[in-house]
This record gives sequence, C-alpha cells and structure tokens, in this order.
Amino acid sequence: MKHTDILAAMISPLCSWYEQNKRILPWRKNRDPYRIWVSEIMLQQTRVEAALPYYERFLEALPTVFDLAKAPEEQLLKLWEGLGYYSRVKNMQRAARTVAETYDGAFPQAAGLLEKLPGIGSYTAGAIASIAFNLPEPAVDGNVLRVAARLCDNDEDILLPQTKKRVEEELRQVYHLAQDAGDLTQGIMELGALVCIPGTPKCEVCPLAGLCLAKKNGTADRLPVRKARTEKKTEKRTIFLLLSGGRVALCRRGKKGPLSGMWEFPAVEKLLRRKAAQTALLDMGISAEIRPFIKSRHVFTHLIWEMQSYIAETESQNPDFTWFTPAELEEEVPLPSAMKPFYEALQREAPFKDWR
Ligand code: ADE
Ligand code: SF4
Repeated sequence: MKHTDILAAMISPLCSWYEQNKRILPWRKNRDPYRIWVSEIMLQQTRVEAALPYYERFLEALPTVFDLAKAPEEQLLKLWEGLGYYSRVKNMQRAARTVAETYDGAFPQAAGLLEKLPGIGSYTAGAIASIAFNLPEPAVDGNVLRVAARLCDNDEDILLPQTKKRVEEELRQVYHLAQDAGDLTQGIMELGALVCIPGTPKCEVCPLAGLCLAKKNGTADRLPVRKARTEKKTEKRTIFLLLSGGRVALCRRGKKGPLSGMWEFPAVEKLLRRKAAQTALLDMGISAEIRPFIKSRHVFTHLIWEMQSYIAETESQNPDFTWFTPAELEEEVPLPSAMKPFYEALQREAPFKDWR
C-alpha cells in the first residue's frame, strides 16, 4: 500500500478519536489565529504542562496581536522568563508588528504568506493555516514524523530534511479529505502525545492499530529512525612520500585514535607550507629536497582528514621507518583507504627513477 493510501485511511478514525479524546487546552477554546500562533511557538521547545501557566499569563497580558506589537521588551522577556530560547519571543514581536502594520492585524490566510513572517517555519505556518483557517495544510514536527514513520513502517532518517519534505508532501495530498483540517493537525499531534508516544507506543488503545504497518510488522518501538548527525571534526595533516632506492617509507600509527596500529606514510598533524614541511622533515632526521605533491581529503564516520603531501628522494633509508618496494607494499601492507590516493598518485606520477 502506498504511503498516501495509509495516510488517507487514517483520517476518519483519527478525527473521530480526536473528537472524543482531546485534552481541554486553552488554545483549543476558539480558532483565534493569534492564540494558536502563541501556543505553537511556546510548544516548540516546551512541554504542554510546562507551557500552560505561561500561556495563560501571556494572553492575559497581551490579548491581541496589537498588544504584542507594542509591548516593551522588558515585559516580553519577563513573560517569557524561564521558557528559554528568547529569540522565539523577539521574533514573535517582529512578526506581530508586520501583521499589525501590513495586514491590519489580521493574519494572512495562506501558509506561504505566514511562512514569510519572522520565526514562522513550515510547521508553524501549517499549524496556523489548518487550525485557525481550516486550510488543507499539514504541520509536520517531530511527533508527526514519528506517527507517520510508524504508520507506514518507514525507516528513513527523520532528521534528514528530505524526510520531512516527503511527509509534508504526502500529507498535503490527503489533507483535503478531512472535514476539519485543524482537527486532523491536532489529532495527529494528540495521538503522538498520548498514544503513539516515543519509545514503546500504546498500540492496544490506538484508533489506527488496524491500518498501522509498524504494528503489523512489529517494528513500532524501533521507529522512527534518527541518525545522530555529529559534526565532523576536520584534522589537517602533512604527508611525506619518501622514496629511496626503489622503496617508500611507511610507519605504523599508535594504538590510539583513527586507524590505530595501521600503516601510513610518515606525517605530521598540521598543514605545513613547503618551508615548514622541509624543517619538519629535518626534525625527523631526513635531509632531502621536498616538492609539493597531491592533496587529498578523507572522510571517516566522525572525522575528516585534509592532507597535503610532499614528495622527496632521500639518500639513506632512515631506520625509524619501514621501507617497502611497491611489490612488498602491495603484498604485505594493508594500506588504509585514507592513504591510497597518495600511493596511487605515486604509481602514476612519481618523478623519480627506480620507482615505477
Ligand atoms: N504541540 C504542538 N502543538 C500542539 C497543540 N496544538 N496541541 C497540543 N500539543 C501541541
Ligand atoms: Fe503508533 Fe501503535 Fe498506533 Fe501504529 S498502532 S500508530 S505504532 S500507536
């Protein structure tokens, strides 16, 4: 079954379930876009229970978009104190001023226009459009991605932007089937908050259990997939290709760090210009004229090496290194992939006699 078929089939049971099971929450009292907007911004980084007292106080102090537009900054910060992420409230005031001035205080009734306002992304725009204006626009956040991944038994990484785009697109195709787009938006959210919760979902009380593929396949508590995308660290290195009597110098890496215990070309953990590289080589006990050779970049799981190589022909074979002929190297040495481009370039381009 296609994703859109499953999502289409979810709408009617989900909306009925939402009608009967929804929590009474202050932003559900009416369809005022200002009240809905404030709730969605607050709930982006704050749990419902924690947001409730702030929400009531904020709306009492600033009941309309005009009040927010002209509120002094200290008042805003005071109302937000303890919620964190203060840029949220500062952006809200900028958006409120635009709504007050450009739109006479009436929020534009189109997701595309809402999204142009400061601090409003596709999620918030979809939430306001569907909940306040009953427009067929999805509002996809982490909770919605979790429910959708499970319903369709889909193991795509939900942290990838293209996954969110795909889910938005698929939901958009079925949203018109809902009598009330706002109930559909809040129904998915409510299911994610109360039933299809992170970890182990409560499938035994779920109104969608009959059509859910993760339930059927027993994969629900492994979904959604979130691949932690750690920032890769970049290390710069200088690599020496030392040739002597038809042999090339290699050494073993230490026991710690990447490629521990593997063979590599002699290296220093810095990017050196020619003169500095010449000095570094001298420090290793080798006196030979170096020439810049190829650059290479190697991407590990959590690390990137940016490497500049130099090539040199030396008189003697310094015993600090192990000197291999090409044949020996190819037979005996498992050369790490990070080193291969240098060896290949050496085979291709080495400007020394006795090497190739
Ligand atoms: N989380 C985000 N938006 C929400 C809403 N409208 N109701 C409940 N929880 C939410
Ligand atoms: Fe989530 Fe279980 Fe319902 Fe599927 S059946 S949507 S996994 S709670």
